[in-house]
Formats: sequence, structure tokens, C-alpha cells
Amino acid sequence: MPQSPTTDATDNRTSTGSNASDYLIRHTTLRQLQLLEAIVRLGSFTRAAEELFLTQPTVSMQIKKLSEAIGAPLFRHVGRTIEPTDAGREVHLACRDILNTLSNLEIKLADLKGLKRGRLRLGVLTTAKYVAPEILGAFCRVYPGIDVSLKVTNREQILERLMGHDDDLYVMGQPRETNAQVQTIPFAPNPLVMVASVDHPLASQRSIPLRALTEENFILRESGSGIRDAVLAQFAANGLMPRVRMQLGSNEAIKRAIVGGLGIAALSLHSLTLESAGGRLALLDVDGFPIMRRWHLVYSRGRELSLVARTFLDFAIDYEPEIRARLAEAEANFAQIRERLIAQSG
Ligand code: PGA
Repeated sequence: MPQSPTTDATDNRTSTGSNASDYLIRHTTLRQLQLLEAIVRLGSFTRAAEELFLTQPTVSMQIKKLSEAIGAPLFRHVGRTIEPTDAGREVHLACRDILNTLSNLEIKLADLKGLKRGRLRLGVLTTAKYVAPEILGAFCRVYPGIDVSLKVTNREQILERLMGHDDDLYVMGQPRETNAQVQTIPFAPNPLVMVASVDHPLASQRSIPLRALTEENFILRESGSGIRDAVLAQFAANGLMPRVRMQLGSNEAIKRAIVGGLGIAALSLHSLTLESAGGRLALLDVDGFPIMRRWHLVYSRGRELSLVARTFLDFAIDYEPEIRARLAEAEANFAQIRERLIAQSG
């Protein structure tokens, strides 16, 4: 039930008792408070009118209304100048707080719009973890106030996160069927290459038929992995099945296993850029490899892309040439390693 209004006998205002500020909210305006602040600061109605691009009668009228709402005179004349009354001083103090708060709010909102602050949640495939931190690093140097979280996982789990709207943006392969709820932007290439240890006999051969690999021990990623699906599909398309010696849930563990002589495996070239500079791994020249795939920048249409996420998306697209250059360099390095191994074996 609304409280019944009470009448303040001293100034004839109507207020709702305990909620007296409600009266001021209804009977004063922010513009009037801004005027009062300017008059007190400048010591003159005329200068305040000039500063705020108003006529002097307008200023006088608004201060009269404010004074009626407050229920007391706000200024008094002292000789040719004016000064605030006690009530005017109190109102001025409150005005300063209110106007400061509003001005801080404006700055905060402008910061948000100007991307000085914000949050970015990114979900990426295990293969994108080799470049995502670098892109994020460059992004955060330009926008240092953005908090970033990066979730790295396999394709199946990325798809689950996408459906659950867990992150703002994803770096992943092409989502299966064309899904109307999902926006997909092609991004950097993600070639899948066949990898062996440099001392593997196949490392110094050219044009190896895929069938020859069925004789080898194969190291496969865990179920749910996009690489696993792509490799098995490539073998299946040729009526073949790899002989799986071991399943591992990590590209890094697979590289170690290859170096340790446990077998061969298909990996994203992105996961090998460091090793390409003459390590212990070689790419096999196998028919049907590399499997040329692409990453995509993906987000759910069901949820509006935040300004931060949209800015990151554009930033990542601009960054793509760097990623391609890194891949090209890795390719060239591995080609040199192969030529060297062929020359040594011959
Ligand atoms: P995965 O995906 O981590 O699910 O194997 C990687 C990829 O497809 O590049």
C-alpha cells in the first residue's frame, strides 16, 4: 500500500515521509543541479548561463523552480555579487557528488565502448593452442584491460561448449552440417601431416602409398578428437585401417611417443612448428597427405557477439597472414629435412 502523503508545514511541500528523496527526484532535474553547480563555482548567474549556452532568464527560472522544490532560497545577494545560502551550499555538495558519479559512469561506459575493459572467453582446438596464445598476446598488448580465458580441448568437447554457449568465440574445424544457429568464418589452414621419427626408414622415401602405412604401428588421438576422425576417414576412404598401437589424448605426448620409436602418427602442422627447425621429427611423403583442412572462427548466432569478441575476431583475421607464414616456414624446413635424409640414405 502506498504511504499517504504528509504535508510539510514549513515549506508547504508534499513528501512521502521516510522516502523524502523521492520528492526531489520528481521535482528537480539533473539540468537544474548542473546549473546550481555552475553558479556556485563561477559566482555568477550570467557566467553560468554562458558556460551552459542558456539565456539568463532561463537560468533564473530554473533556479527558482529548484528553490521551490527544495523549499528554501538557494542564493542571496551580497552587494553586487551572489553567494549560496546554507541550503544552497548543501544542495551544491550533493550536486557535486551526483555529477561526479554521472561523469565517472560516462567514463566507464566510454571505456567499455573503447574496449579498455571487458572479458573474452575463447574455446580452441588442441591444434589451435599453438597459435591462440600468441594472437591473444598481441591482442592484449593493444587492449590491456581485457580479461581473457582460453579453453583448449578436442573437437567433440568444443562442439559441446558451442552448443552450451560456454564461450564467446571458438577456433575449430568446420562444424558438421550447415547449422543455422552457428556462424562460421573460414580462418587459417590446418594441414594434417604424417609424422615419423627422423631415423624411421620411411622418412627418406618419396610418394609412399597409404597402404604401406598399414604395416606400421600407429599412434592415434583419443576418441572425440577431430584429428582422429580425419585420419580414420582418410584410411577408410581407401578401404584401409591403420594398425593402432596406442591412443593418446595429447599432441605433445604423441610427439614424444614418435621420438621414442613407438610408431607414426598424423598431427597438425601447427603442432610441429618448433620441431621443424631440425629436431627429431620428419614428415612422411604419403599419398593423400597432407590432408588440407582449415580452422574456422565460430560463434553461436543465438547470442549476440560482444564488442570485445567482435574486435578479437577482426584482430584474429588480420593476424592470419602471420600464421600462414609460420606454416610455410615449417613446411620448407621439413622439406629440407626430407631432402637431407634422402641424400644420406642414397
Ligand atoms: P582435435 O582437433 O584436437 O579434436 O584433434 C584438432 C584439429 O582438428 O585440428
